[in-house]
Amino acid sequence: MKHSMDPNNSYLPEQIKKRLTTRWLGQTIHFYQQLDSTNLTAMELAERDAPEGTVVIAEQQLRGRGRAGRSWHSSPRLGIYCSILLRPKLFPAKAQLLTLMTAVAVAKSINIKVGLSSTIKWPNDILVNNKKVAGILLEGRVSSTIMEYAVIGIGINVNHTSADLPDELQAGASSLRIERGEVVERSGLIGQVFLEVERLYEGLQQRDSTMILEQWRLLSATLGRHVRIIKKDKVIDGIAVNVTTEGALLVRREDGSLNLFHAGEVEHLNMSASGEEGADGRDTCS
Ligand code: BTN
Repeated sequence: MKHSMDPNNSYLPEQIKKRLTTRWLGQTIHFYQQLDSTNLTAMELAERDAPEGTVVIAEQQLRGRGRAGRSWHSSPRLGIYCSILLRPKLFPAKAQLLTLMTAVAVAKSINIKVGLSSTIKWPNDILVNNKKVAGILLEGRVSSTIMEYAVIGIGINVNHTSADLPDELQAGASSLRIERGEVVERSGLIGQVFLEVERLYEGLQQRDSTMILEQWRLLSATLGRHVRIIKKDKVIDGIAVNVTTEGALLVRREDGSLNLFHAGEVEHLNMSASGEEGADGRDTCS
């Protein structure tokens, strides 16, 4: 695989800070040229009592982690690889709201700063033109009743050309640069993501998740679609009808029964006139 020239290397904490309009999130940035995984480093900081709002950013990850034990491809200086440390007052059962919240923040920021129309595939893949451009990985430590801390990892394919994406991602993934046809300034985008997360998270801490859920529904590429859920060995088809206050997906099956999914892989199905299905947008990016 060939790497394109870095089109924009001004991505230092100072540049990000200049564009930052948050009150507390991202005010402390741990910046690295290279890390195994920003999530891993953020969790180590959390264990050492780092304050809420601490952020870890790397220009490259050697072992970027994706959902379901997959890896996250992290080309040097082309993407955004960052983790946000939070200490939410949230029951562990509601942890999924944090990923929905971040998906909303990332999708809105792409729409505002890059001028693309991005959508969210349940629970938290960000799509542009049906291709995955960003993913979110929530990790952390929970006790039986509270979340000790949460680390939200955000990976955005920003300035990758198609040559920068490995073969296995060519079909399902893209970057903001490919979709916009122009290089994207990373510092402004990351500053906007932090601002959107801060706003939504403050609502959540006041026990108000309506803003997150309403915006998630508006940005959703999944609701109203024929979907196939793959969970362990089971395959369930139906129509995605809603997302619950815990962030679970409600699916109506052909026999009219309603099923709730808290986790799993989702495929968007294209239903042809003959009723035949074709998979579209399977989670292939991590
Ligand atoms: C997914 O599989 O869709 C989630 C991908 C999350 C990737 C980000 S990159 C920054 C942070 N650090 C990691 O190791 N992973 C997350």
